[in-house]
Amino acid sequence: MIISPSLYSMHFDHFAEEIKALNETVEWIHFDVMDGNFVPNLTFGPGILQTVRRNSELFLDVHLMVNDPDYYSEVFAKAGADSIIFHYEVYEDIDKCIRLIDKIHSMYLKAGISIKPGTSVEAIKPLLDKVDIFLLMSVEPGFGGQSFQETALDRLKEVSDYRSEHDLKFLIEVDGGVSDKNAHELLARGADSLVAGSFVFNGDIRENVAKLRKCE
Ligand code: DX5
Ligand code: ZN
Repeated sequence: MIISPSLYSMHFDHFAEEIKALNETVEWIHFDVMDGNFVPNLTFGPGILQTVRRNSELFLDVHLMVNDPDYYSEVFAKAGADSIIFHYEVYEDIDKCIRLIDKIHSMYLKAGISIKPGTSVEAIKPLLDKVDIFLLMSVEPGFGGQSFQETALDRLKEVSDYRSEHDLKFLIEVDGGVSDKNAHELLARGADSLVAGSFVFNGDIRENVAKLRKCE
């Protein structure tokens, strides 16, 4: 399993010790970019990603919750991203999504597509043979610390069944309200990567990561 803690919940007054704990325990770091427009909240710019890059060799998983992912894909690629994940809802158009996926690949990064809880899985099926990562939102994007929406379980199974039926290789990542209460079920239904913000950072990071590992 891949654990991808969301920096949204990091305590930035303890950046050095928390990044060290991540470097020693997890595979990826999840970096939520919110523009105050696609979602009603603001988070980080590229300068913060550069700082993380200087302090970590982990895979930097960039989740763009912005209205202009085309522009910001370049900005965060230059800042040190390893993946760029954008939202289908920005375009609601398969050809436009494919153009951005191709652009992300041309920058030698992994490309991912994400959908909000209200968007059908059916809508993005034509993209699943083109992406490296599918990010399933199990909360409405915009804020950390929300409760996991159980409807994500059936949606996860639908994607994971589609992947098996079509012999596809993309990774499935789940984002929002992930904890040791639901991690086992998510992995059993086909998730490869678990984003966890509040669960990992509230309390002892190493202990919380170990609790997630036990869910495998
Ligand atoms: C929500 C973000 C998530 C969030 C997860 O919009 O995409 O990555 O930080 O936080 P938790 O794990 O606290 O739900
Ligand atoms: Zn996220």
